[in-house]
Amino acid sequence: MSSRSVAVLGATGSIGRATIDVLERLGSEWRVAAISGHRRLDTLAELARRTSARQVVLSDASAGGDWSECEWPAGVEFSRGPEALVQAATAAEVDTVVAAIVGRAGVESTLAALQAGKRVALANKETLVCAGPVVAELLGKSPTERLAGPAERLAGPASGGRLLPVDSEHSAIFQCLAAGPDNPRRLILTASGGPFRQWSLEQMQAATVAEALEHPTWRMGKKITIDSATMMNKALELIEARWLFGCPAESLEVVVHPQSIIHSMVEFADGSVVAQLSPPDMRLPIQYALTYPQRLPCPSPPLERGKPWELTLEPVDQERFPAIPLGFEVAAKGGTAGAVVNAANEAAVDLFLSGQIRFTDIVPACRAALEHHTFEERPSLSRLLELDRWARAEVGRWSCRA
Ligand SMILES: NC(=O)c1ccc[n+]([C@@H]2O[C@H](COP(=O)([O-])OP(=O)(O)OC[C@H]3O[C@@H](n4cnc5c(N)ncnc54)[C@H](OP(=O)(O)O)[C@@H]3O)[C@@H](O)[C@H]2O)c1
Repeated sequence: MSSRSVAVLGATGSIGRATIDVLERLGSEWRVAAISGHRRLDTLAELARRTSARQVVLSDASAGGDWSECEWPAGVEFSRGPEALVQAATAAEVDTVVAAIVGRAGVESTLAALQAGKRVALANKETLVCAGPVVAELLGKSPTERLAGPAERLAGPASGGRLLPVDSEHSAIFQCLAAGPDNPRRLILTASGGPFRQWSLEQMQAATVAEALEHPTWRMGKKITIDSATMMNKALELIEARWLFGCPAESLEVVVHPQSIIHSMVEFADGSVVAQLSPPDMRLPIQYALTYPQRLPCPSPPLERGKPWELTLEPVDQERFPAIPLGFEVAAKGGTAGAVVNAANEAAVDLFLSGQIRFTDIVPACRAALEHHTFEERPSLSRLLELDRWARAEVGRWSCRA
């Protein structure tokens, strides 16, 4: 393999650190050229020493901490602010960008990387949820009402940029599609069900932040952990799948699989269902996105086969988890709907984490924002970002009602 040079945006987070782990084990053909963190300067300095990255970005220009107080490797170039993220994502020496920033903040750098023709390993699902119409146009593939083979769908002839999914469900679907790219009938996303899978609505109304952060199978950043508890994460993944695979919302399905071993499935025209199984460890889908189409030994542990397995599938209770019907609706609508719901959700999760709204207010706040916005089918990026700001302000009012 020819040598590869990687920018890890959001390197200090859960996916970012797992990526560094994978890259360290892939060997000397793989070089970390750039890393970013938002506020955690100490962690960034530790990762800079570990990886010998030349370019180091602290994306929050106003974050405290003196860069000179940390120990940096020789020759490092340090920059601050969101523009520096875009520079790292588009640098000539970088061929691969791991988009691992959380939330809408990851959109511009991911789009810039695609525009610059980079191979993008996409963890930042918000890029597709918020800016799906823009990405579809950029990659030269309008969202057709059919499913197509992954290699065709994901390659972007217009720009040369290429998206490879890191989200475990989308990586699983991407892998399953190899079994019959032309005739998939349904894409079946699995969901762990989160910590409240068996809770009543009344119990969920009183859920605390600590309870919502106790995910039964995955260790992740705070925001996605709350999204797993509301099942908004699955709603965002439905929207992500619609744009990534160019499929109609009716071809998507969600089933609850509490063991988090089956990461997703594809049902083909002949009725066969192909699934991808592995332990819940993000290093596998991260590595697959980096090395695709090659499969190489991976640090994630193998599945334990020496004892009886229990793999269960359950339907989603859409009354207790109203995020799921909301996700289907937004995936079907497209246009501005994803940007509004994504921003509303980010704002509502922040309000919940700071104790200003109840857990069960999060999804209704998102629905209210969706219903109060003026829908547009073919928005520009600036319009999507404007609606992002509008939806956050709308949700801000919910804290006054709680
Ligand atoms: N964790 C998982 O298992 C998992 C699985 C599938 C998909 N994903 C997706 O991967 C993305 C990252 O998730 P995560 O769990 O790794 O999140 P995380 O642990 O919270 O890490 C987020 C990263 O983004 C940086 N960041 C935070 N706010 C930022 C801003 N405004 N501008 C630029 N950078 C910012 C953080 O920097 P600081 O550390 O300095 O704050 C950190 O590097 C999300 O889109 C998530 O949905 C995650």
